[in-house]
Amino acid sequence: MSYTKEVMDHFSNPRNMGEIENADGIGEVGNPTCGDMMKITIKVKDDCIEDIKFKTLGCGAAIATSSILTELAIGKNLDDAYAISRNDVAEALGGLPPEKMHCSNLAADGLQEAIKNYRSNN
Ligand code: FES
Repeated sequence: MSYTKEVMDHFSNPRNMGEIENADGIGEVGNPTCGDMMKITIKVKDDCIEDIKFKTLGCGAAIATSSILTELAIGKNLDDAYAISRNDVAEALGGLPPEKMHCSNLAADGLQEAIKNYRSNN
């Protein structure tokens, strides 16, 4: 299985890349097997994700999954954003090759860590 056009689009034109200054929540995750790393920063307003950015040092699928994750999460309340699963991420990209599913895990985990971090600070 090769990459879908959605994966190629988000890999070539990543959305919401970067880092929010004075973020309300920060999530940093890594995959020890492949060495890829991801940092998610969020701004929270009225219990909703007002803004979200990512920095990913990793494979093309990790970049595409981070990018789509930011689009899925923005505007959602924290409970709904926390519930975004790796399958939601992969589905939004029209599917991922099986050996690349762990890359979508990284994105969902990164957001959950950022939300946990926000909640522990508030
Ligand atoms: Fe590890 Fe993609 S190869 S996140």
